[in-house]
This record gives sequence, C-alpha cells and structure tokens, in this order.
Amino acid sequence: MPRTFDLHSLTRALTVAGLVALAASPAQAQQGELVVYCNVQEEWCRPMVNAFEKATGIKVAMTRKSSGETYAQIKAEAANPRGDIWWGGTGDPHLQAAEEGLTEVYKSPKLADLHPWAVKQAEAAKFRTVGIYAGALGYSYNTDELKKRKLAEPKCWADLIKSDYKGEVQVANPNSSGTSYTMLATMVQIMGEDKAFDYLKAMHRNVNQYTKSGAAPARAVAIGETLTGITFLHDAVPNIIAGAPVKTVAPCEGTGYEIGSMSIIKGAKNMANAKKWYDWALSKEAQALAVDAKAYQLPSNKDAAVPAQAPKFADIKLIDYNFAKYGSSAERTRLLARWDKEVGALPK
Ligand code: F6P
Repeated sequence: MPRTFDLHSLTRALTVAGLVALAASPAQAQQGELVVYCNVQEEWCRPMVNAFEKATGIKVAMTRKSSGETYAQIKAEAANPRGDIWWGGTGDPHLQAAEEGLTEVYKSPKLADLHPWAVKQAEAAKFRTVGIYAGALGYSYNTDELKKRKLAEPKCWADLIKSDYKGEVQVANPNSSGTSYTMLATMVQIMGEDKAFDYLKAMHRNVNQYTKSGAAPARAVAIGETLTGITFLHDAVPNIIAGAPVKTVAPCEGTGYEIGSMSIIKGAKNMANAKKWYDWALSKEAQALAVDAKAYQLPSNKDAAVPAQAPKFADIKLIDYNFAKYGSSAERTRLLARWDKEVGALPK
C-alpha cells in the first residue's frame, strides 16, 4: 500500500531538523573557525595557518594585507567585525587600534615567556596588543646596478637623496604600509619634523614607485628593477641567501625599528579560537616556524631560536623609537595627513 503523504509529520520533522541545525551552527562555527588578518609575507602566513589548523583542527580563513590597510579595514568593520585575529604587521597601527578600542584586552599566560620589549608593547597598549617579533629598518641595494653606474657604496640615509639616485629609490606608501610609516616616524625622530619633511620631499624626486606593501622594494632590488629599496633589513635577507646581488645598509645616522605585533579584534565572532591562536603564536614552537618560512625577524619568545641570518641589533645604530608617541592615534593620523599633503601630492 502506498504511504500517504503526511504533511503534518513532515513539517514537524523539518522544524525539529531546522531547530537542531540552528542550535548547532553557531556552536560549530565557534569551535571550528578562525578569521586571521595576516600582515607578514605570504610565505610565513601560510605555514602558520597550516600548522595551527593541524594542531587544533580549527579551520582558518586568512587574508594577507599590509599593516596600515588592515588597521583601516578593522576600523571600517568595527560595527560588524569580520576578523578575529590580527597577526603581524608593525606595532604602530596595532597601538593606534588599541587606543581607539578596536582591539580586545587579553593577558595571555604566555606573556611570561616573552622578551621585555614584547611585554612592554603589551603594557603600553593596556594588553590590547603584544610584540611577536622585532626588526630594524634600513635599505638594500643591487650591487651589479651600483657597479654599472660607477657609484660608491651607499652608507647613510643622506645618500638616498643624492642626484645620482634619481629614479632609483623604491619605498612603500606610509598609508598602506607599516614599514614606510616606520621610516616616516624614524626620520622625524632623527631630524626633527620639519627637516624630516624636507628630506622626504627631496627623496620624492628619487622615488620611482611608492608600493603598497612594505617588503616589495626588497624584491625589486633583487631583480634589478630599482637600485635601492627601503624596507626592514630582514626583508632583504632571503634574496641575499638566494644569491641575488644585494647588500643591506643599516644607515649611518641611525635607524628605527618595529615591534611586530598581534591583537585580538574587538567583538571577534570566534573569540575562544582567537585566544587559542594568540597563546599558540607566542609559543616557542609556533615562532620556530619563521626560519623555514624565510622570515628573519627576532622572535619575541625568549626560548625561540634567533635565525643565524637575522640582522643583528648589536651591529645597528638604533634610535630609541618612541612607540607610545608614534603609535598614538593623533600622531599617526597627523603625520600621514602631512605626508599626503606635502610629499604624496607632489608631482613626479
Ligand atoms: O615582510 C614582513 C614585514 O616586513 C614585517 O616584519 C612587518 O611587520 C610587515 O612586513 C610590514 O608590512 P607592511 O609595510 O606592508 O605593512
């Protein structure tokens, strides 16, 4: 006998199934997912994501962008946050986001395992960010191109504004790139603000391109597309190891540095998983992944091995970079607006 179509039971069954699905989906999403905004090079973001997924079974959706871009994205999404973890990128925009309440307070049990400079970063942000690595600013040049042009080896920031370098300097735009903002703030700290802007205007004449990402000029130097490129020194190291005709310069006047940072995004939908990533990313094991990923920053975990090829801070004339001041919302906003008006707007 054919079964009769029982609309009532079907509706009941569908309702029950619907309720089960509704009850299950947010919980599953909370246990199973994490959205990471990654600001280091893709070659390091990927293995971090893979290792975390393997260790926890949590599915990660990752996007890579530059530090200033990610700050702007998190600000734009503040009413309905789409990201959970902001991993990597220079410390200044992380500090600005902390001050603006865009990131979450979290005191990881792993803080005790970190170098004082990384903990200081956390304290400065009232625990809304933390240091994960450090790196010094400088520039690299292509030795073959230098020989072709019969130029002496550059050693100082002052070399980059010489007429010999016309069209031969590449650097990122400080609005998108944390590297380039570090350079802007470094010049202000070394020279005083007005002289720094005179220098940046003079450098503008020599700049062939303001890139979006901070590390891009190092790659352009390696393939001879530009004679010099301003980046963190560690970003030139993989090219030197790969045999490119490249040398780095830690400028004679002194230079700034970054404390690469990590923050949990305020209102993160996957908060428990964000904290899992945070604790894991501060571990010695997670930080050890950097070397295989050809990332040569100094790790913040005291027990993580420092890569042999990492630029040595002891050999570099470092300034006492004022992170509190140059990572403050008012100062970063003001300096970027001044750069746009007085440097970015100049004709090429
Ligand atoms: O490539 C790595 C790196 O230099 C990090 O050390 C740094 O935090 C980040 O890139 C900065 O990138 P950007 O200048 O594109 O914001």
